[in-house]
Amino acid sequence: MKKQIKFGLLVGLSIPVLLVSACGDQLENTEKLDTTDKNIETVSAQVFAPHEGINQEPVPLEVERDGTDVFVKMTAQITDIQLDNDTLYKAWTFNGEAPGPVVVVNEGDTIHFTLDNMDPAVPHSMDFHAVHTAPNVGFANVMPHEEGTFVYQANSPGVFMYHCGTEPVLAHIANGMHGVIIVKPTDGYPTDNEVDKEFVIIQNEWYDYNDMGDMIEGEPNQVVFSTKALEPGQVNTNGTVGALIDTPLEAKVGDKIRFYINNIGPNEISSFHVIGTIMEDVYIDGHPANHQKGMQTVGLPASGGAVVEFVVKEPGEYKFVTHQFEHVEKGAAGKIIVTE
Ligand code: CU
Ligand code: CU
Repeated sequence: MKKQIKFGLLVGLSIPVLLVSACGDQLENTEKLDTTDKNIETVSAQVFAPHEGINQEPVPLEVERDGTDVFVKMTAQITDIQLDNDTLYKAWTFNGEAPGPVVVVNEGDTIHFTLDNMDPAVPHSMDFHAVHTAPNVGFANVMPHEEGTFVYQANSPGVFMYHCGTEPVLAHIANGMHGVIIVKPTDGYPTDNEVDKEFVIIQNEWYDYNDMGDMIEGEPNQVVFSTKALEPGQVNTNGTVGALIDTPLEAKVGDKIRFYINNIGPNEISSFHVIGTIMEDVYIDGHPANHQKGMQTVGLPASGGAVVEFVVKEPGEYKFVTHQFEHVEKGAAGKIIVTE
């Protein structure tokens, strides 16, 4: 028996509060209570007080290039994300998205990174897995209402996680401060000229709002996939239940599809699998030297990434999942619609 009683997130005094009780492994008895209910005091006590009533509009990622110098500016901010029909989560985010926007640079670039911390109360930071730096210097905290600028070399190609590295790191990641940075290899991948479509696919899990006990001892409430736009017009979603079922990816028969995938975690591994295909070419962590062939399932540790490529040979609906199917029941599925 776990999670006998848990409370949904109070997002403001003017909206309904959700009370969810769970028995055994099954969630049940979802009730909506209005704010006149006596439980409001109990629920309200769980909201991180300095964030009460804050919902900062998403801010676009800023990327400017001057030769091999890339100037990237991101925000740390508090933004509501609707995780499923019953759960509005006051997420700690980069740029108002969770996962945050995808950052794409080239191998050999110098990244000039600025973090604008719009959070009024909590220091935040940026830990790019794509770089070498002394973490206490390069990933140092940026105080509320301040900006910090850091310079890194991106010398290793791959599909890397980024996340807030401020203590307690678990809370900052699980509350939504995570995303993906792709470092494109100078010489490309050996299969570059075979690829027709590219997408970014990210897996992450969610726990009770800002509840360290649940993040440490509990099971995730939602396990989700999202996609991040690599170019204007591509689908861009948050990590919410059904995001890539309601808004499927699209491809044509015969397309070779490349996914840049990463499993944010923070706690669970992913067994990434596309139903109805075999991943012909896989580059573990997105490094061209880590070339694997003919994989049915790609294991992704927490923070692990890969480039995976597969051909869709017949029209239809192709779901992709983590083959840990308990997580599919919690939301970890997406869909590609393949047409003639
Ligand atoms: Cu943070
Ligand atoms: Cu890390």
